[in-house]
Amino acid sequence: MALENAFELASSSIRFGHGVTREIGMDLAEMQAKRVMVLTDPNLAKLQPVATVLESLRENRIFHKLFDRVAERDVGRLRHRRRLRILDPENTRSMPRQVAATSGFDVLSHAIESFTALPFHQRPRPERPVLRPAYQGSNPISDVWSLEALRWVSKYFVRAVEDPDDLEAREKMQLAASYAGVGFGNAGVHLPHGMSYPVSGMVRDFRPEGFPGDHPIVPHGMSVILNAPAVFRFTAEACPDRHLIAAEILGADVSRAKSADAGRILSDRLVAIMQRLRVPNGLRAVGYDNSDIPALVKGTLPQARVTKLSPRPVDESDLAHLFEDAMRGW
Ligand SMILES: [Fe+2]
Repeated sequence: MALENAFELASSSIRFGHGVTREIGMDLAEMQAKRVMVLTDPNLAKLQPVATVLESLRENRIFHKLFDRVAERDVGRLRHRRRLRILDPENTRSMPRQVAATSGFDVLSHAIESFTALPFHQRPRPERPVLRPAYQGSNPISDVWSLEALRWVSKYFVRAVEDPDDLEAREKMQLAASYAGVGFGNAGVHLPHGMSYPVSGMVRDFRPEGFPGDHPIVPHGMSVILNAPAVFRFTAEACPDRHLIAAEILGADVSRAKSADAGRILSDRLVAIMQRLRVPNGLRAVGYDNSDIPALVKGTLPQARVTKLSPRPVDESDLAHLFEDAMRGW
Protein backbone atom coordinates (compact mmCIF):
# COMPACT_ATOMS: atom_id res chain seq x y z
CA MET A 1 0.00 0.00 0.00
CA ALA A 2 1.42 3.39 -1.02
CA LEU A 3 1.14 6.06 1.64
CA GLU A 4 -0.19 9.59 1.09
CA ASN A 5 2.33 12.25 0.11
CA ALA A 6 0.12 15.34 -0.29
CA PHE A 7 -2.52 17.39 1.49
CA GLU A 8 -4.88 20.16 0.46
CA LEU A 9 -6.45 23.13 2.21
CA ALA A 10 -10.14 23.81 1.62
CA SER A 11 -11.97 26.70 3.27
CA SER A 12 -15.28 28.44 2.76
CA SER A 13 -15.60 32.23 2.69
CA ILE A 14 -16.05 33.82 6.09
CA ARG A 15 -17.09 37.37 6.95
CA PHE A 16 -16.56 38.37 10.57
CA GLY A 17 -17.57 41.55 12.36
CA HIS A 18 -20.00 43.25 14.72
CA GLY A 19 -23.25 43.94 12.90
CA VAL A 20 -22.47 42.14 9.62
CA THR A 21 -25.87 40.39 9.82
CA ARG A 22 -27.29 43.72 8.57
CA GLU A 23 -25.33 43.33 5.33
CA ILE A 24 -27.24 40.23 4.19
CA GLY A 25 -29.90 42.22 2.32
CA MET A 26 -27.21 44.17 0.44
CA ASP A 27 -25.41 40.94 -0.52
CA LEU A 28 -28.59 39.44 -1.91
CA ALA A 29 -29.41 42.66 -3.78
CA GLU A 30 -25.94 42.52 -5.42
CA MET A 31 -26.66 38.91 -6.42
CA GLN A 32 -29.99 40.11 -7.87
CA ALA A 33 -31.77 37.46 -5.81
CA LYS A 34 -35.43 37.35 -6.75
CA ARG A 35 -36.97 35.01 -4.20
CA VAL A 36 -35.24 34.31 -0.90
CA MET A 37 -35.99 31.61 1.68
CA VAL A 38 -35.12 32.38 5.30
CA LEU A 39 -34.72 29.07 7.12
CA THR A 40 -34.73 28.94 10.91
CA ASP A 41 -36.27 27.11 13.85
CA PRO A 42 -39.06 28.16 16.25
CA ASN A 43 -36.62 29.24 19.00
CA LEU A 44 -34.33 31.36 16.84
CA ALA A 45 -37.35 32.84 15.02
CA LYS A 46 -38.22 34.73 18.21
CA LEU A 47 -34.75 36.24 18.64
CA GLN A 48 -32.96 39.35 17.41
CA PRO A 49 -30.61 37.74 14.83
CA VAL A 50 -33.56 36.56 12.69
CA ALA A 51 -35.32 39.91 13.17
CA THR A 52 -32.17 41.68 11.93
CA VAL A 53 -32.01 39.47 8.82
CA LEU A 54 -35.66 40.16 8.01
CA GLU A 55 -35.20 43.92 8.53
CA SER A 56 -32.19 43.88 6.21
CA LEU A 57 -34.19 42.06 3.52
CA ARG A 58 -37.07 44.52 3.83
CA GLU A 59 -34.75 47.54 3.70
CA ASN A 60 -33.23 46.21 0.49
CA ARG A 61 -36.64 45.30 -0.99
CA ILE A 62 -35.82 41.61 -1.33
CA PHE A 63 -38.87 39.37 -1.76
CA HIS A 64 -38.57 36.66 0.88
CA LYS A 65 -40.46 34.04 2.82
CA LEU A 66 -39.73 32.85 6.35
CA PHE A 67 -39.76 29.12 7.18
CA ASP A 68 -39.48 28.83 10.96
CA ARG A 69 -39.86 25.08 11.56
CA VAL A 70 -36.73 23.83 9.82
CA ALA A 71 -34.47 21.07 11.19
CA GLU A 72 -30.75 21.68 10.66
CA ARG A 73 -30.09 18.27 9.02
CA ASP A 74 -32.40 19.29 6.08
CA VAL A 75 -30.64 22.63 5.66
CA GLY A 76 -27.39 20.78 4.89
CA ARG A 77 -28.84 19.54 1.57
CA LEU A 78 -29.36 23.01 0.24
CA ARG A 79 -26.31 23.64 -1.59
CA HIS A 80 -25.23 26.67 -3.55
CA ARG A 81 -22.05 27.43 -5.42
CA ARG A 82 -21.38 30.58 -3.41
CA ARG A 83 -21.33 29.99 0.33
CA LEU A 84 -20.56 32.82 2.70
CA ARG A 85 -20.57 32.30 6.44
CA ILE A 86 -21.54 35.36 8.44
CA LEU A 87 -19.98 35.51 11.91
CA ASP A 88 -21.53 38.33 13.89
CA PRO A 89 -20.65 38.47 17.60
CA GLU A 90 -23.89 40.39 18.20
CA ASN A 91 -25.73 37.14 17.47
CA THR A 92 -24.11 35.39 20.44
CA ARG A 93 -25.70 37.75 23.01
CA SER A 94 -28.87 35.69 23.39
CA MET A 95 -27.05 32.33 23.64
CA PRO A 96 -27.94 30.64 26.97
CA ARG A 97 -25.11 29.63 29.31
CA GLN A 98 -25.49 25.88 28.75
CA VAL A 99 -25.59 26.28 24.98
CA ALA A 100 -22.39 28.36 25.16
CA ALA A 101 -20.82 25.62 27.30
CA THR A 102 -21.74 22.64 25.12
CA SER A 103 -20.87 24.39 21.85
CA GLY A 104 -17.56 25.51 23.38
CA PHE A 105 -16.71 21.92 24.37
CA ASP A 106 -17.39 20.92 20.78
CA VAL A 107 -14.90 23.56 19.58
CA LEU A 108 -12.36 22.43 22.19
CA SER A 109 -12.63 18.82 21.03
CA HIS A 110 -12.52 19.78 17.32
CA ALA A 111 -9.21 21.52 17.98
CA ILE A 112 -7.60 18.65 19.95
CA GLU A 113 -8.96 15.85 17.74
CA SER A 114 -7.80 17.50 14.51
CA PHE A 115 -4.37 18.20 16.03
CA THR A 116 -3.98 14.60 17.28
CA ALA A 117 -5.59 12.91 14.23
CA LEU A 118 -3.60 10.34 12.28
CA PRO A 119 -0.96 12.27 10.26
CA PHE A 120 -1.88 12.60 6.56
CA HIS A 121 1.25 10.71 5.46
CA GLN A 122 0.12 7.59 7.35
CA ARG A 123 -3.10 7.34 5.29
CA PRO A 124 -3.21 5.33 2.04
CA ARG A 125 -2.54 7.43 -1.07
CA PRO A 126 -5.55 7.60 -3.40
CA GLU A 127 -5.12 6.44 -6.99
CA ARG A 128 -6.34 9.79 -8.32
CA PRO A 129 -6.27 13.20 -6.60
CA VAL A 130 -10.05 13.54 -6.91
CA LEU A 131 -10.38 10.55 -4.54
CA ARG A 132 -8.45 12.30 -1.77
CA PRO A 133 -10.87 12.50 1.21
CA ALA A 134 -12.03 15.76 2.77
CA TYR A 135 -10.73 14.48 6.12
CA GLN A 136 -7.04 13.96 5.32
CA GLY A 137 -5.50 13.56 8.77
CA SER A 138 -3.42 16.12 10.63
CA ASN A 139 -1.08 18.13 8.42
CA PRO A 140 1.07 21.26 8.71
CA ILE A 141 -1.68 23.65 7.59
CA SER A 142 -4.52 22.22 9.69
CA ASP A 143 -2.16 22.25 12.71
CA VAL A 144 -1.88 26.05 12.48
CA TRP A 145 -5.65 26.51 12.65
CA SER A 146 -6.23 23.83 15.31
CA LEU A 147 -3.54 25.15 17.65
CA GLU A 148 -4.61 28.78 17.34
CA ALA A 149 -8.20 27.72 18.04
CA LEU A 150 -7.01 25.81 21.11
CA ARG A 151 -5.07 28.85 22.40
CA TRP A 152 -8.17 31.03 22.17
CA VAL A 153 -10.40 28.37 23.72
CA SER A 154 -7.94 28.09 26.61
CA LYS A 155 -8.04 31.84 27.17
CA TYR A 156 -11.70 32.68 26.55
CA PHE A 157 -13.96 29.59 26.93
CA VAL A 158 -14.67 29.75 30.67
CA ARG A 159 -15.09 33.55 30.52
CA ALA A 160 -17.55 33.29 27.61
CA VAL A 161 -19.72 30.81 29.52
CA GLU A 162 -19.58 32.36 32.97
CA ASP A 163 -20.20 35.95 31.86
CA PRO A 164 -22.59 36.31 28.89
CA ASP A 165 -21.82 40.04 28.86
CA ASP A 166 -18.12 39.39 28.25
CA LEU A 167 -18.39 40.24 24.58
CA GLU A 168 -14.64 39.99 24.00
CA ALA A 169 -14.71 36.35 25.17
CA ARG A 170 -17.83 35.50 23.14
CA GLU A 171 -16.32 37.14 20.05
CA LYS A 172 -13.06 35.21 20.45
CA MET A 173 -14.93 31.91 20.96
CA GLN A 174 -16.89 32.56 17.78
CA LEU A 175 -13.65 33.07 15.88
CA ALA A 176 -12.07 30.07 17.61
CA ALA A 177 -15.01 27.96 16.41
CA SER A 178 -14.34 28.95 12.81
CA TYR A 179 -10.56 28.44 13.19
CA ALA A 180 -11.14 24.96 14.61
CA GLY A 181 -13.60 24.43 11.76
CA VAL A 182 -10.84 25.02 9.20
CA GLY A 183 -8.57 22.69 11.20
CA PHE A 184 -10.98 19.78 11.48
CA GLY A 185 -12.59 20.46 8.09
CA ASN A 186 -9.25 19.49 6.56
CA ALA A 187 -7.67 17.14 9.11
CA GLY A 188 -10.87 15.50 10.39
CA VAL A 189 -11.90 14.50 13.89
CA HIS A 190 -11.61 11.06 15.44
CA LEU A 191 -12.88 9.00 18.38
CA PRO A 192 -14.61 11.54 20.67
CA HIS A 193 -16.82 12.48 17.71
CA GLY A 194 -17.17 8.96 16.32
CA MET A 195 -18.33 7.72 19.73
CA SER A 196 -20.60 10.72 20.30
CA TYR A 197 -23.20 9.85 17.66
CA PRO A 198 -24.66 6.81 19.46
CA VAL A 199 -24.44 8.70 22.79
CA SER A 200 -26.70 11.42 21.35
CA GLY A 201 -28.75 9.05 19.22
CA MET A 202 -29.66 6.52 21.93
CA VAL A 203 -30.75 9.11 24.52
CA ARG A 204 -33.62 7.95 26.74
CA ASP A 205 -34.78 10.59 29.17
CA PHE A 206 -31.86 12.95 29.86
CA ARG A 207 -32.96 16.59 29.74
CA PRO A 208 -30.10 19.05 30.32
CA GLU A 209 -30.90 22.23 32.21
CA GLY A 210 -30.87 25.42 30.19
CA PHE A 211 -31.92 23.91 26.86
CA PRO A 212 -35.15 24.95 25.16
CA GLY A 213 -37.94 22.40 24.75
CA ASP A 214 -38.63 19.45 27.02
CA HIS A 215 -37.59 16.54 24.81
CA PRO A 216 -34.71 14.27 25.88
CA ILE A 217 -31.38 15.28 24.36
CA VAL A 218 -27.66 14.82 24.91
CA PRO A 219 -26.39 17.94 23.11
CA HIS A 220 -23.65 17.31 20.54
CA GLY A 221 -20.83 19.08 22.39
CA MET A 222 -21.74 17.27 25.62
CA SER A 223 -21.77 13.81 24.01
CA VAL A 224 -18.38 14.57 22.43
CA ILE A 225 -16.63 15.83 25.57
CA LEU A 226 -17.98 13.01 27.77
CA ASN A 227 -15.88 10.59 25.67
CA ALA A 228 -12.83 12.81 25.31
CA PRO A 229 -10.87 12.12 28.56
CA ALA A 230 -11.06 8.33 28.07
CA VAL A 231 -10.09 8.68 24.40
CA PHE A 232 -7.02 10.85 24.98
CA ARG A 233 -5.75 8.51 27.70
CA PHE A 234 -5.99 5.79 25.02
CA THR A 235 -4.58 7.66 22.01
CA ALA A 236 -1.66 9.43 23.72
CA GLU A 237 0.76 6.56 23.25
CA ALA A 238 0.55 7.08 19.46
CA CYS A 239 1.67 10.74 19.61
CA PRO A 240 2.48 11.76 23.20
CA ASP A 241 4.17 15.00 22.14
CA ARG A 242 0.99 16.30 20.52
CA HIS A 243 -1.09 15.40 23.57
CA LEU A 244 1.41 17.26 25.78
CA ILE A 245 1.37 20.33 23.51
CA ALA A 246 -2.43 20.43 23.81
CA ALA A 247 -2.23 19.97 27.60
CA GLU A 248 0.30 22.77 27.92
CA ILE A 249 -1.88 25.18 25.92
CA LEU A 250 -4.72 24.30 28.30
CA GLY A 251 -2.56 25.30 31.27
CA ALA A 252 -0.79 22.11 32.37
CA ASP A 253 2.83 22.25 33.55
CA VAL A 254 4.52 19.73 31.26
CA SER A 255 8.13 20.70 31.99
CA ARG A 256 8.84 17.38 33.70
CA ALA A 257 6.16 15.28 32.02
CA LYS A 258 7.03 11.84 30.73
CA SER A 259 5.58 10.57 27.46
CA ALA A 260 3.80 7.79 29.31
CA ASP A 261 1.82 10.39 31.29
CA ALA A 262 0.74 12.50 28.30
CA GLY A 263 -2.78 11.09 28.04
CA ARG A 264 -3.48 11.42 31.74
CA ILE A 265 -2.14 15.00 31.85
CA LEU A 266 -4.29 16.14 28.92
CA SER A 267 -7.37 14.33 30.24
CA ASP A 268 -6.90 15.85 33.70
CA ARG A 269 -6.93 19.34 32.15
CA LEU A 270 -10.13 18.52 30.25
CA VAL A 271 -11.77 17.15 33.38
CA ALA A 272 -10.89 20.33 35.29
CA ILE A 273 -12.68 22.43 32.64
CA MET A 274 -15.63 20.01 32.56
CA GLN A 275 -16.01 20.24 36.34
CA ARG A 276 -15.73 24.02 36.32
CA LEU A 277 -18.48 24.29 33.67
CA ARG A 278 -20.64 21.63 35.36
CA VAL A 279 -20.67 18.93 32.69
CA PRO A 280 -22.45 15.74 33.88
CA ASN A 281 -20.03 13.24 35.44
CA GLY A 282 -19.66 10.74 32.61
CA LEU A 283 -22.03 8.71 30.41
CA ARG A 284 -23.68 7.29 33.54
CA ALA A 285 -24.90 10.77 34.44
CA VAL A 286 -26.74 11.10 31.11
CA GLY A 287 -28.52 7.75 31.48
CA TYR A 288 -26.20 4.97 30.29
CA ASP A 289 -24.74 1.96 32.09
CA ASN A 290 -22.47 -0.94 31.17
CA SER A 291 -25.35 -2.93 29.65
CA ASP A 292 -25.53 -0.25 26.91
CA ILE A 293 -21.91 -0.71 25.85
CA PRO A 294 -22.53 -3.29 23.04
CA ALA A 295 -25.15 -0.99 21.47
CA LEU A 296 -22.89 2.07 21.87
CA VAL A 297 -20.04 0.16 20.15
CA LYS A 298 -22.38 -0.97 17.37
CA GLY A 299 -23.51 2.63 16.87
CA THR A 300 -19.90 3.79 16.55
CA LEU A 301 -18.80 1.26 13.91
CA PRO A 302 -20.56 3.04 10.99
CA GLN A 303 -18.52 6.17 11.82
CA ALA A 304 -15.39 4.71 10.19
CA ARG A 305 -14.80 7.95 8.26
CA VAL A 306 -13.70 9.51 11.54
CA THR A 307 -12.73 6.53 13.73
CA LYS A 308 -10.08 5.47 11.20
CA LEU A 309 -8.40 8.83 11.83
CA SER A 310 -7.65 7.81 15.40
CA PRO A 311 -3.86 8.04 15.77
CA ARG A 312 -4.01 4.64 17.49
CA PRO A 313 -5.98 1.92 15.67
CA VAL A 314 -9.17 0.78 17.43
CA ASP A 315 -11.18 -2.43 17.26
CA GLU A 316 -14.51 -3.32 18.83
CA SER A 317 -13.02 -4.40 22.13
CA ASP A 318 -11.04 -1.14 22.37
CA LEU A 319 -14.26 0.80 21.81
CA ALA A 320 -16.01 -1.22 24.52
CA HIS A 321 -13.19 -0.38 26.96
CA LEU A 322 -13.34 3.29 25.99
CA PHE A 323 -17.09 3.48 26.64
CA GLU A 324 -16.59 1.67 29.95
CA ASP A 325 -13.91 4.21 30.91
CA ALA A 326 -16.19 7.10 29.84
CA MET A 327 -19.04 5.96 32.12
CA ARG A 328 -17.49 8.08 34.87
CA GLY A 329 -15.73 11.36 34.05
CA TRP A 330 -13.84 11.64 37.32
FE1 LIG B 1 -18.52 18.63 16.64
